[in-house]
Amino acid sequence: MVDHEFGGQWTEQKLEALKNYLTQYRLIFTQNEKARYFKTIYVDAFAGTGERKAPEINVEDRQLFGPDELPEVEAYLKGSARIALELASPFDEYVFIDKKRDHVEQLQSMIKRDFPELEPRCHIQQEDGPQAIRELCKRRDWKKERAVIFLDPYGMNIEWELLKQIADTQAVDLWFLFPLGTGANRLLTRDATPPKAFADKLTRIFGTDAWKTEFYTQSGQSDLFGEDPKLVKDVSFDQIGQFLIKRLKTIFHGVAPTTKALYNSRNNPMYLLCFAAGNPKGASTAIKIADYLLGQRS
Ligand SMILES: C[S@@+](CC[C@H](N)C(=O)[O-])C[C@H]1O[C@@H](n2cnc3c(N)ncnc32)[C@H](O)[C@@H]1O
Repeated sequence: MVDHEFGGQWTEQKLEALKNYLTQYRLIFTQNEKARYFKTIYVDAFAGTGERKAPEINVEDRQLFGPDELPEVEAYLKGSARIALELASPFDEYVFIDKKRDHVEQLQSMIKRDFPELEPRCHIQQEDGPQAIRELCKRRDWKKERAVIFLDPYGMNIEWELLKQIADTQAVDLWFLFPLGTGANRLLTRDATPPKAFADKLTRIFGTDAWKTEFYTQSGQSDLFGEDPKLVKDVSFDQIGQFLIKRLKTIFHGVAPTTKALYNSRNNPMYLLCFAAGNPKGASTAIKIADYLLGQRS
């Protein structure tokens, strides 16, 4: 029984872009003679159970149904793992990582039940996603392998060093769900620069402390006693996103200029979906495809 529930309309949007990208990616790697040489790997670092419960039935409404009826009225929607496994042309290998044991177990049984022919290609790891990705980047033979990594955390787990390691493979395309409203913006305190713990976290995420000058401005003049003028937050969601893209461009061969902000029902941007390509040869095609998908309205 699947009890992994998250997301809203934004979940649909991010998964739609991912599905269409993976489809195009596999098309390139099956049709292009040179690309056929490579083994392709799909890596989902925060894989979940593979499925998720449709969010439209709220807690109160659930009480209207008996326990036997609920499963019938609830649509079970596809999660990223299932989407990747359902591709008409599957990847040569799948790596699914989740730190929760029950999520890993549900994912294992879903694969056994619904994709038995792909089971030998699947590696399911109960582990910390960032740690597993660091190992994968180090250990794989990037002369012969190409990967798409999907980083889809709830919170601020992804740090710059990890992004740099992914970029350095020169063989990985990255879909990254950046916690714009749920993470970064909350750490950027309004009336003064953030306390040290928040500031350090922001610096670890962006890989620089340049965010301080980009996101904060002086309010007023220094006073008669020579006290420094106050620094106040002066940045929009859009500008935070642009700063992230600018930073990603310093390490990846290409970054899609378009991003997709994913809003919650109160119209606040929660996440920013972005794409970066690490492989110098494929980057321009990859960016074209991803940029188009990110710009699509849903
Ligand atoms: C937003 S869900 C991912 C959903 C999935 N990508 C999908 O579309 O179906 C986040 C998942 O990350 C897992 N998770 C949270 N922290 C993690 C970590 N540090 N390492 C690996 N998995 C983690 C949670 O258990 C949860 O299943």
